[in-house]
Amino acid sequence: MTARVLDGNQIRDQIQAELVNQIAELKSAGVTPGLAAVLVGDNPASHIYVRNKVKTCESLGLYSEKVELPADTSEEELLRLVHDLNRRDEIDGILVQLPLPPQIDSKRIMMALDPAKDVDGLHPVNIGNLVSGRPGPVPCTPAGIIEILKRSDVPIKGARAVVIGRSDIVGKPVAILLLHNHATVTICHSRTRDLPKVASEGDILVAAMGKPAFVTGDFIKPGATVIDVGTNRLSTPEEVKQVYRDPTERLKKLAEKGSVLVGDVQPEDVREKAGAFTPVPGGVGPLTIIMLMVNTVEAAKARRGAGVHQAATNK
Ligand code: GUN
Repeated sequence: MTARVLDGNQIRDQIQAELVNQIAELKSAGVTPGLAAVLVGDNPASHIYVRNKVKTCESLGLYSEKVELPADTSEEELLRLVHDLNRRDEIDGILVQLPLPPQIDSKRIMMALDPAKDVDGLHPVNIGNLVSGRPGPVPCTPAGIIEILKRSDVPIKGARAVVIGRSDIVGKPVAILLLHNHATVTICHSRTRDLPKVASEGDILVAAMGKPAFVTGDFIKPGATVIDVGTNRLSTPEEVKQVYRDPTERLKKLAEKGSVLVGDVQPEDVREKAGAFTPVPGGVGPLTIIMLMVNTVEAAKARRGAGVHQAATNK
């Protein structure tokens, strides 16, 4: 039996349709939500992510600004920019694309954001709100993962959920959200003993450690729901052959496009062993961007006293 594919593009379209109505309402009240996307340096993946975020703003009729700074920007310069964006009224949301160059302490930058404009949910105040179940912005990828599970009718309450990866931006917040939704949650990482055995206890398995095709069949409980957060680029035939048992199609794609995208989950194994899974591309990725739009619209409402930020709790 092959697993059900959880189509991120389709779920994104549902959320987008709901959001379009909210944006129209705001606009008829004279409010255009605005997002500033800040990109420091020349990480090619970050450039693509930021371009897609700005493009999505434009297609939804949101105001957006892209601020590009050179790789040798100092922490003080970036802090000055953040303070300026904090003050500007037409900016409702500020996104500082991560990772930042090594001379900049990203935690200090997150702390400098006005928490009301922190559409990534990474300011300590917003992390506190998330952990304690109070309303506030939720990091976009974790929020998107919960939308995928709920809108695909995957039961969370009472489920065993295993998260592999403990980043501030995905692993930790998604574990908290699963917990608030009454899952029994285990967080694993590179030092976890007997990782495949622990992972294979998960009815829901979230792979967010950034290692191409690391999660193989032995990590997956038969019938589990597997959420693949990884986006790893393979750029040589050797790399492709290492990942795929039958690499024919992917080698063709590599020759055509110059690279092949693979998640943190072995794509052939998950199809055979899981009950449902998110593909790469077309799974979690589209949700990350639309949840950023949701957070921007919510920030615009909240700043005008009408926000009903998704409570990070229950139900
Ligand atoms: N880098 C990778 N994912 C993200 C994200 O969701 N937000 C930001 N700011 N940077 C990222």
